[in-house]
Amino acid sequence: MTENNQPGNNLDPWYSHYAERAAGLRASEVRALFAVASRPEVVSLAGGMPFVSALPQDLVINAMDQVMVKQGPTALQYGSGQGVPALREQILEVMALEGIQANADDVVVTTGSQHALELVSKLFLDPGDVVISEGPSYVTAMVIFRSYQADVDHVPMDEHGMIPEALREHITRLKAAGRTIKLLYTIPSFHNPAGVTLSWERRLEILAIAKEHDILVLEDNPYGLLYFDKPAPDAMRSVEEDGVIYLGTFSKTLAPGFRTGWALAPHAIREKLVLANEAAVLSPSSFSQLVISEYLATADWKEQINTFRGVYRERKEAMLSALGEHLPQLEWTNPNGGFYVWVTLPEPLDSKAMLPRAVKELVAYTPGTAFYGDGNGRQNIRLSFCYPTPDQIRLGIRRLATVIDGELDLLETFAGTGKLGAALGTTQFTSPPPNVS
Ligand SMILES: Cc1ncc(COP(=O)(O)O)c(C=O)c1O
Repeated sequence: MTENNQPGNNLDPWYSHYAERAAGLRASEVRALFAVASRPEVVSLAGGMPFVSALPQDLVINAMDQVMVKQGPTALQYGSGQGVPALREQILEVMALEGIQANADDVVVTTGSQHALELVSKLFLDPGDVVISEGPSYVTAMVIFRSYQADVDHVPMDEHGMIPEALREHITRLKAAGRTIKLLYTIPSFHNPAGVTLSWERRLEILAIAKEHDILVLEDNPYGLLYFDKPAPDAMRSVEEDGVIYLGTFSKTLAPGFRTGWALAPHAIREKLVLANEAAVLSPSSFSQLVISEYLATADWKEQINTFRGVYRERKEAMLSALGEHLPQLEWTNPNGGFYVWVTLPEPLDSKAMLPRAVKELVAYTPGTAFYGDGNGRQNIRLSFCYPTPDQIRLGIRRLATVIDGELDLLETFAGTGKLGAALGTTQFTSPPPNVS
């Protein structure tokens, strides 16, 4: 690998030994932020941690207890590389809530949907391939795509999700440049980080475009059941069986600590996924799967999802009303579910440059640049409302307003005058060239 591509640095004695693909493994802004934002005095609107305290502990304790009583040592043993059969059947019930009819034989249980992303990437991506995704997109999916040396091409979105016309243009441009497009990665419902939902008409149109161009759709749906007022449209997989790999997870509707998610794949791909799963982890955690299976069989899990919805709805409302009160000059999305609000700052504010000042004011957010692979997003920030209480959210937004007002005052004072004014002129946000041409 070339000097420039090497991960790590000279303090690492194995600096020159890494495989080329390790160059894609760079610490994301989100990751670096967790360390700072975990200080108790900082209100973190940065991370996407589910509010697991809303899950009554006795439900979990009871399920764990029953698993040990009923299954004994089996619960602590290796299991099947595809997952526990009873849980795969129950996963069908969960997916049916979003219109998916499937066979338990096509479900592969994974160590969180994150691991399913890794396995799908391992199966499909060669160096130089292209993954099309929304712009912005989920950070850690892009880290995986990059680690397989694929390029991510971002298709713009609006309040109804990915724009089909733009998708067509991107595909045409990529094909004209001789690029191989392997996956269309999408988070159609309550998008991370944009908070928007792909409309039903666009779901159908995007599926048709993918089919026309022979592109496999990777539908990542961790938030679909966490709607506030009305459900998201049915999953894309509900109308297209052969061209979609669907990913689900128990991380947001139960708890991420179980590290249990799944992939529902076309039959031939499913076989490869099981082999890849076995090669990576032998089998996903038997204990976690059996506890979840017991929980789904005995607890009112749909009511628990309702409880989560209520918690997140209240927090979203707290965030939007605080934004309206303290930062009316900003624009933001109004999510009907999930965890995130995507905020657009007035020009020429730079979300990345502003972050240290925000942390100094004891509020953390994620700069928009984290969600693009091409330097875009300087004018955006992602605010998470999932974990902090409504009071903390209001406090966090007040602090953010202090930072933003301070930055704007500074710009107004110096704009266009002298050296600082000229320097500020250069921070104006302009779209960088796409990373894939
Ligand atoms: C869009 C998206 N996909 C996948 C994941 C990974 O979730 P899991 O805990 O199932 O690995 C997350 C987690 O935040 C996410 O937001």
